[in-house]
Amino acid sequence: MAPRRKLAAGNWKMNGLSANLSEVEALMAAHPAPGCDVLLCPPATLLHRLAQTCAGHALAAGGQDCHAAGNGAHTGDTSAEMLLEAGAAYVILGHSERRADHGESNAEVRAKSVAAIEAGLAAVICVGETLAERESTRTLEVIREQLAGSLPGQISGDTVVVAYEPVWAIGSGLTPTLEQIAEVHDFIRAELSRGFGEDAGDAVRLLYGGSVKPSNASEIFAVSNVDGALVGGASLKAADFSAIITALEAA
Ligand code: 13P
Repeated sequence: MAPRRKLAAGNWKMNGLSANLSEVEALMAAHPAPGCDVLLCPPATLLHRLAQTCAGHALAAGGQDCHAAGNGAHTGDTSAEMLLEAGAAYVILGHSERRADHGESNAEVRAKSVAAIEAGLAAVICVGETLAERESTRTLEVIREQLAGSLPGQISGDTVVVAYEPVWAIGSGLTPTLEQIAEVHDFIRAELSRGFGEDAGDAVRLLYGGSVKPSNASEIFAVSNVDGALVGGASLKAADFSAIITALEAA
């Protein structure tokens, strides 16, 4: 079994104008040949330009959402094929902000993931519990349900990445303990192997997301079954994201 290639992914969310592309230039200059996969998911308006900026560099570009349909009367939405044409290699799906702000269900996330993979994108599928769910000791049950409902019928290391993002850790400065991260990541690995077979389950990369920053990246990357991070705020500044990449390269 080939070792899983580590992935540092940045989610810019609704942040970034063309001036911010200078951060991408700085990031590429700091990591001319990164020792892990690096992905930036800017807002849709910047995707094409960011992908052009990264042309010839290992840094990959991704979208933050796509529609499940290939085309049609869906004002304001973007299809997977459109993201691909704009230069994306990945798309984040089922982020908790999409689930909360747009009422996305597990079934919708699954339909989007099928569309993304059919179009040739790798789907970064997000799962994670709320604080109330954690406090009522329902975390693993919620994760199991989200995995069962959101993942496509087939998965592989090339087509799917799973990101564990506890909702309460996003943008809050709070992080689970390393033991809590290990418990969920080991659980996700076991669920994937149980549902999709050991080879596929073993090949899929598992990212941790939620208040990852330079000061806590190394200890998180040392946790079992953590293959990288999905980083929000700290991916906006090249210096911070670069430090996280360096920590992942060393892990
Ligand atoms: P923060 O790193 O800002 O907590 O955001 C995490 C996240 O939601 C990435 O998708």
